[in-house]
Amino acid sequence: MIVPTTRLDWMPDESTTRNVRPATAAETSDPRAMHAANRAAWDEAAERYEGWFDEALELIRAGRSNLFPVEHELIGDLRARPGALGTGKRRAIHLQCAGGRDTLSLWNLGADEVVGIDISPRMIVLAARLAEAAGAPGIWIESDVLDAPRDLDGSADLVYTGRGSIIWLHDLDGWAAVIRRLLAPDGRLVIFDGHPAEWLFDADPEGHLVATAYDYFGGVEASKGWAPEYIDRLSVAEDHQSWKFARAWTLGEIVTALIGAGLRIERLVEYPVDWWAGHRDLRPEDRGRIPLSFGIVASRGD
Ligand SMILES: C[S@@+](CC[C@H](N)C(=O)[O-])C[C@H]1O[C@@H](n2cnc3c(N)ncnc32)[C@H](O)[C@@H]1O
Repeated sequence: MIVPTTRLDWMPDESTTRNVRPATAAETSDPRAMHAANRAAWDEAAERYEGWFDEALELIRAGRSNLFPVEHELIGDLRARPGALGTGKRRAIHLQCAGGRDTLSLWNLGADEVVGIDISPRMIVLAARLAEAAGAPGIWIESDVLDAPRDLDGSADLVYTGRGSIIWLHDLDGWAAVIRRLLAPDGRLVIFDGHPAEWLFDADPEGHLVATAYDYFGGVEASKGWAPEYIDRLSVAEDHQSWKFARAWTLGEIVTALIGAGLRIERLVEYPVDWWAGHRDLRPEDRGRIPLSFGIVASRGD
């Protein structure tokens, strides 16, 4: 199964897969309905993010960043950028910002103004609370990425997204078009997200690399429940949680959507970085041999 949320990589064991199934044709024909379902599921999962509030606050107050070194390298020196707002201010827009920890990390990295957009109202409330407690500026917008407000168009020095974001989207062309319109003329897109190939591999009991039964081209998966490595201890029991819809888009599909929107891909990098510790059972020497994440840097292309 997919993502840091569902378990496509689990073995086909009745007890663990009853709440994981391929989406039906009727479900996949309606991307907006899948997004609405994901909104409900993420509102439930926000409970786990609320539990991370204190450590997130400590990190932001200390001026640190939650991002990986490879992300810092992709983003580069934000302070060296001229600023696209005509005021010398550098704006970073974080799509699918969740509880705001990564968004406010961008502030600590030199963005003067950060904008977080997320479909989950509970995540947006949490992000605003984090910013207020940290004394940090931030604009928090509850919205489907596909409906990002038009008044942000052309204003982003940086559009940043990833860490388990793209799998929740079911209109990649619409997503790429939004990124294109948000970017300032000299702005850049930076993505750091899970590599779709990560679901092809798992660890045997000794930590050796083994192939899973995962179908790389399988399309949308519907699921209830979350991978315990990522989200555990929700107060809503799994059977009562909302169905959610995820798709491990291939690298080809992601890149093609960005190119189709007119963006110019500057870099596409694959990493062994185990970004959500989903492969921590693998021996380190095996973990380093497979792609677990990827990065993209793109410009507006005009
Ligand atoms: C795994 S989190 C993203 C990573 C995040 N930076 C973090 O700190 O973990 C996925 C986020 O995407 C949001 N999301 C899912 N579908 C969305 C959509 N269509 N538009 C906007 N946000 C969406 C969820 O509410 C959730 O907060």
